[in-house]
Amino acid sequence: MIFYFSGTGNSLYTAQQLSASLQEPICNITDIIQNNNYSYIISEGEHLGFVFPVYAWGLPKPIITFIENLDISSIAPYYTFAVITCGENIGNTMEELKKILKKKNIFLNSGFSIAMPDNYVVLFDVMSKEQQTEKLDKADKIIYKIAKMIALQKNNFFRVEKGKFPLLKSTLLHYLFHHFYTNTKHFYTTGDCIGCGKCEALCPTHIIHMKSEKPYWDKGNCYMCLACLNYCPKEAIQYTKKTEKHGRYHNTRL
Ligand SMILES: Cc1cc2nc3c(=O)[nH]c(=O)nc-3n(C[C@H](O)[C@H](O)[C@H](O)COP(=O)(O)O)c2cc1C
Repeated sequence: MIFYFSGTGNSLYTAQQLSASLQEPICNITDIIQNNNYSYIISEGEHLGFVFPVYAWGLPKPIITFIENLDISSIAPYYTFAVITCGENIGNTMEELKKILKKKNIFLNSGFSIAMPDNYVVLFDVMSKEQQTEKLDKADKIIYKIAKMIALQKNNFFRVEKGKFPLLKSTLLHYLFHHFYTNTKHFYTTGDCIGCGKCEALCPTHIIHMKSEKPYWDKGNCYMCLACLNYCPKEAIQYTKKTEKHGRYHNTRL
């Protein structure tokens, strides 16, 4: 079973590719949280996989909630892997994941990071279409290699791009992100909004509500996945003035 979380499709695409190679079903973590159904049986020979993006060199909120509540039972030992998608690097996120899994008596056998186009348009502009294609082609090759390593059941096998100052990034900067960059009050729409409601339908935490054909964001519980902003067909959703100058990204290989 491969459990995934994805805002703009990179991690979903990765989970789908691994699912096809490893013949494992995939399961959306946000649906699990929504349905409050955390009990799973891992059958003999089945893998346990986690695929999700890095958020500010740390674990996204839904991954923490999911693993804290996860209740896995199995009759035989099983192989566990994690794939973390990112724009550049993940700092100490894999170590953080190992720690919370250990509390649930789950041992991570292998872990990987994959650089894919960055969707954090709050700080950065998107890459050109050509650069995106190049990065996604590279990622495809890495996914293929990862599937091979998992199929070989490589143990204690980690291929992760931590970047510079991983400890600082995964502690102080991750903390600052959570306290200052996850506030829904910074979302707003421009006059280009056509009231289509796509953002409301896509939001994994259902905190967007349409009123008079305009979206409104509830306070709190935003994962900052930026699906609303990146998939808006009119690029009408903004998060601070900065995003007005930036393009939008979602994975088009799905
Ligand atoms: C809130 C947020 C924080 C992010 N932080 C990082 C980061 O620390 N390092 C990095 O390389 N990419 C970072 N990214 C980029 C994403 O991890 C990357 O684009 C990922 O593949 C998106 O996956 P998804 O399409 O499945 O949502 C961040 C993106 C978001 C939305």
